[in-house]
Amino acid sequence: MADNPFSLSFGRTPVSFIEREYQSREILDSFTAKNPSYQVCMITGVRGAGKTVLLSDIADKLRIEDRWIVVDLNPERDLLQMLAAELVNRRDLIEIFREARINLSFLGFGPEIEDEPPVTDIVAALRRMLEKLTKKNKRILITIDEVTSSQRVREFVSQFQIFMRERLNVFLLMTGLYENIYELQNQKTLTFLYRAPKVVLKPLSLPLIARKYGEIFSLNEADALDMAKATKGYSFAFQVLGYLCWTTGRTWKDVLPEYDTCLEDYVYEKIWSELSQKDKLVLLAMCNAKSSKVEDIRHKMDMNSNNFTVYRARLLKKGIVYVPEYGQLAFSLPRFAEFILRQDIL
Ligand SMILES: Nc1ncnc2c1ncn2[C@@H]1O[C@H](COP(=O)(O)OP(=O)(O)O)[C@@H](O)[C@H]1O
Ligand SMILES: [Mg+2]
Repeated sequence: MADNPFSLSFGRTPVSFIEREYQSREILDSFTAKNPSYQVCMITGVRGAGKTVLLSDIADKLRIEDRWIVVDLNPERDLLQMLAAELVNRRDLIEIFREARINLSFLGFGPEIEDEPPVTDIVAALRRMLEKLTKKNKRILITIDEVTSSQRVREFVSQFQIFMRERLNVFLLMTGLYENIYELQNQKTLTFLYRAPKVVLKPLSLPLIARKYGEIFSLNEADALDMAKATKGYSFAFQVLGYLCWTTGRTWKDVLPEYDTCLEDYVYEKIWSELSQKDKLVLLAMCNAKSSKVEDIRHKMDMNSNNFTVYRARLLKKGIVYVPEYGQLAFSLPRFAEFILRQDIL
């Protein structure tokens, strides 16, 4: 049997990839503009929405351009140190830094440079390098996947802001869960992040999913669209449903129990465990309400309108619910209502 074109692993660009044409274009266009309208952008969405894959896709598209230097940083490490090390070790930049006569030997990188006192501070070293690269008309994209509001990330982002103010050609693309990004931008020194655009991942296009399923499983248009709808455009679900149909040779309707188990084990349990009790009650009320009208949902849980608005807004930002029509609320994730009804809530 041929290799499964679907994959259950996170963070790696899948073989069956659905282009997010609009959302990646928007970021690419503004980063590559002559006068970029922003230099920081954050991608958010629930687990499994495809943040890491979109980040890699954008980074890879810029990586192949001569003008761009892309550096992927790990939020668990010392980011300033890592950025400096990455830049110094890039073969294509050796000449530029040599010509600039930046002596980084004190920091443990690069050669000793005669008659040039070593730079002893990592920020000063980075500044010298970034200035040189900016002069050479290079643009530096720094990516950080899965940020949290840790000391290391805060220190880095705050220094990044200074480099940006110094008009260096630096760009920052980060991904994170809504709550983490929210906490990060609420830090006193990082309020500039409020103004930075946040791209909330939309569902993948159903027609594109249907076409992919149709090709791979030789389905007619209507069947392919039904199967696509069963994923609600949720990236991870698209992979899971395809994966199961491929390995079992059965139709999507016949793998629903396995689909539920997989979604639950890989993501839903985790998403659920991170919600507050009140969030859970709102979601449960959605399952039990007689329609998706906000009025009916509120009625199920006796919550006043002001209170409800707060929870609704938060669940929307987390990407767990969406507004199908004015005054309504529905689940963004497939089979999530069925999952909730299996949980003990109180
Ligand atoms: N554009 C896409 N097309 C198809 N599958 C995708 C796409 N983006 C993500 N996926 C799949 O969804 C799952 C989660 O993707 P990932 O980027 O790791 O999510 P996140 O970082 O938001 O948790 C992976 O199995 C991945 O293969
Ligand atoms: Mg990820």
